[in-house]
Amino acid sequence: MRMASTAGLVKKMNKESPLYEDMVDILERKKVDQLTFHTHEEIWKQIMPEFYKVAKVSEVPPGTKHLVEVDFVPVLLFNIDGEFYAMEDICTHDGGPLAEGFLNGDEIECPRHGARFCVKTGEPLCMPAVEPIECYTVKIEDDDILISVD
Ligand code: FES
Repeated sequence: MRMASTAGLVKKMNKESPLYEDMVDILERKKVDQLTFHTHEEIWKQIMPEFYKVAKVSEVPPGTKHLVEVDFVPVLLFNIDGEFYAMEDICTHDGGPLAEGFLNGDEIECPRHGARFCVKTGEPLCMPAVEPIECYTVKIEDDDILISVD
């Protein structure tokens, strides 16, 4: 087993690659110096987020939400004017199911006590919620919606 080093990995990367800046950023954020690995494949697995196919684009038309489950996490997908967003389906005030709430533009209202959240950032917009909701990275591949819950 070897210890990875951020400096060592950055040295091996192609500086001409369009992904260079992003990968350096990921390596620094993930504190690669603290990871252990056997092979390069293992280290890529540790630093790259894992994406799961969760729905078809056609299942989430503009202006709608769609509930899925990823790795035992309930996740709510949104299509806001053709852009896709994902957040945990648990209100930070008292665990309310946001999937049952009213979607108005880019705001979702919790059906329990009326807290509203921005679906793009997860930030609470009014009381009684004060903590943001966890949001996830979304990517589209062909007709598939993929998210990472890392
Ligand atoms: S549980 Fe969502 S506002 Fe109270």
